[in-house]
Amino acid sequence: MKDFKGRTAVVTGGASGIGRGLADRFAAEGMNVVIADVEQGALDGAEAEMKAAGATVLAVRTDVSKMADVQALADKTIERFGGVHIVCNNAGVGGGGPVASWDAPMTDWEWVLGVNLWGVVHGVRAFVPLMIKGGDEGHIVNTASVAGLIAGAGGPQYTMSKFGVVGYSESLYHELKMAGGKVNVSVLCPALTNTRIIESGRNYPGGPPPEPAEGSPEKMMLDMIKGIFAEGMPPSETASIVLDGIINERFYILTHPEHNDVIEGRVKAVVSGGSPPTLMPRP
Ligand SMILES: NC(=O)c1ccc[n+]([C@@H]2O[C@H](COP(=O)([O-])OP(=O)(O)OC[C@H]3O[C@@H](n4cnc5c(N)ncnc54)[C@H](O)[C@@H]3O)[C@@H](O)[C@H]2O)c1
Repeated sequence: MKDFKGRTAVVTGGASGIGRGLADRFAAEGMNVVIADVEQGALDGAEAEMKAAGATVLAVRTDVSKMADVQALADKTIERFGGVHIVCNNAGVGGGGPVASWDAPMTDWEWVLGVNLWGVVHGVRAFVPLMIKGGDEGHIVNTASVAGLIAGAGGPQYTMSKFGVVGYSESLYHELKMAGGKVNVSVLCPALTNTRIIESGRNYPGGPPPEPAEGSPEKMMLDMIKGIFAEGMPPSETASIVLDGIINERFYILTHPEHNDVIEGRVKAVVSGGSPPTLMPRP
């Protein structure tokens, strides 16, 4: 897909971070943009800022872990703009902290898999039939992570969700080819990006967990990690890489080539029966 002007893009998790970067970029390309997010305050702020910058934008509060919400998002998109051409299934949460997977609360598993994995399933179910029916060119971008290619860059729940998004997107690629339509798919696997992902607990069902006490080792660790994310890639740069990937029909969209050796190392370990490498070994 090379022509964007006047077409319509939907971005889940569009109120902040990478999603906001994508939304701004699509708007700059002259697209109508639908931003969907569970966080009402951030959504209202993003809508106001984008409108003030001259964008044609529709904001829809959506919890992507709920099929009914994502279906309503699709219905509202068609009602307002009459079609849909790009869908970024991007909403996601970090999660799965230092607790071992066998001890982690089931609510952690359900939350992370519900948003990161089921959110993508819901997005594809709601939008792909509309895109195929519309008959135009279309592109789905599913946000996974480098943690969908190498384990250990997040908690086990996160790793499982992101490996799932990569695997599902690969299947979807073949399904869309077999369907013979004009709809394409990419999987975005970013590494460190300057967003609020480390504060994902703000959207934890039932309310955020308590903040660690000032001066505690947990608080110092949290501040250190926040500092590391603040040094990450700006979302606007990620958005440019994604746009280039859409234009050039790249399936795997990676943002940090410095990790390629480890990814290659994993593939070599698979075929040689070795042990899995990791990006962030735990102590
Ligand atoms: N930041 C990174 O370094 C990094 C690296 C790899 C992958 N990712 C992925 O990028 C995507 C975007 O995350 P980000 O880094 O921009 O974080 P972010 O926290 O800044 O943005 C995520 C957005 O998703 C929204 N969201 C959370 N739960 C939702 C739900 N149930 N329904 C709808 N929206 C919901 C949040 O409100 C927020 O606006 C995620 O899928 C994340 O896993 C991020």
